[in-house]
Amino acid sequence: MDVYSDPEKHVLLKNNVKMPILGLGTSHYGGFSGAAVQHAVRSCGCRHIDTAKRYGVEAAIADAVQASGVPREEVFLATKCWPSDYGKTSTRAAFRGSCDRFRSDYIDMYLLHWPLVPSWCTDSKQLLSETWRTLELLYDEERVRCIGVSNFDESDLLELLSDPELSTTPHINQCEFHPFHNPIRIRDFCSQHHIQFEGYCPLGKGKILDDPVLVEMAKVYRKSVSQILIRWNIQQRVVCIPKSTKPERVEINSQVFDFSLSEEDMAKLSSLPQTLTIFDRQEIQSRVDNPLPDGYRLHYGSSLNNGT
Ligand SMILES: NC(=O)c1ccc[n+]([C@@H]2O[C@H](COP(=O)([O-])OP(=O)(O)OC[C@H]3O[C@@H](n4cnc5c(N)ncnc54)[C@H](OP(=O)(O)O)[C@@H]3O)[C@@H](O)[C@H]2O)c1
Repeated sequence: MDVYSDPEKHVLLKNNVKMPILGLGTSHYGGFSGAAVQHAVRSCGCRHIDTAKRYGVEAAIADAVQASGVPREEVFLATKCWPSDYGKTSTRAAFRGSCDRFRSDYIDMYLLHWPLVPSWCTDSKQLLSETWRTLELLYDEERVRCIGVSNFDESDLLELLSDPELSTTPHINQCEFHPFHNPIRIRDFCSQHHIQFEGYCPLGKGKILDDPVLVEMAKVYRKSVSQILIRWNIQQRVVCIPKSTKPERVEINSQVFDFSLSEEDMAKLSSLPQTLTIFDRQEIQSRVDNPLPDGYRLHYGSSLNNGT
């Protein structure tokens, strides 16, 4: 059964859009591989690619999807608007740019990348509100199939939801999520408001793959640690977007629908100490105010320590 026919392999958003529960992450941090995207779509049944304008790889993703031979309409393409593009006209222009690079007249999912605005802005509430209004309009015009946010905590969501002009509540909130960073209160809040929770850095950017609890569990299930981590996500119906630039790892990471973790092991992973936060808001704020171009890590290497 394909991703859209098999209820285990997709989530149904509140507007009835089917979103594949497992996607492939892409980024400029750690490099980009068109071969990995092509292999995911052509040979691993992957129908969901996550990216962002900031990563500078949208056109390369379009090339890889086209080379896979799978029609674009079957692939759920998700991208994000970076805070320096927030604002009525600039968000529309950023959206158009993403469509052009995807060579598509629509996008499946469009997210506000962070609940931050450039420091020069004196009314952040107003800027975020008019930016969200632009996403609502793009949604009403059927240029995007679902809209959402990323890195929004409860207070950010409350502010958005309390906007008197709000017409569409977010379909998605994409946040850092792995056993060592498990934001239960945000997840509960999202579930109460029918906002699908999506996790990024499911492998903790590769930093948690040698954790002894995970290594031991992987041995018991005869699976890789990456497969255990991805299974922990999808078994909780959290949309999961592991990144790999290596086709063989993409294939391993896609083989997660042929086993399940016991309730006891799910609970064990959910109660690990909260010791790893990869993304720090303060640091991101400095990147928002930083004039580096989209995809700069692809071109200049990565001397900094995370992937935004
Ligand atoms: N909304 C946001 O602010 C935000 C922030 C960060 C990330 N994201 C999204 O989430 C996606 C995933 O997050 P992420 O890339 O930061 O981290 P991640 O998926 O947790 O980890 C990626 C790292 O794990 C390695 N890896 C992947 N599969 C492996 C395997 N089977 N065995 C060993 N190592 C493996 C990769 O290396 P190789 O490439 O060498 O295989 C890479 O270094 C991103 O690509 C992006 O789409 C969103």
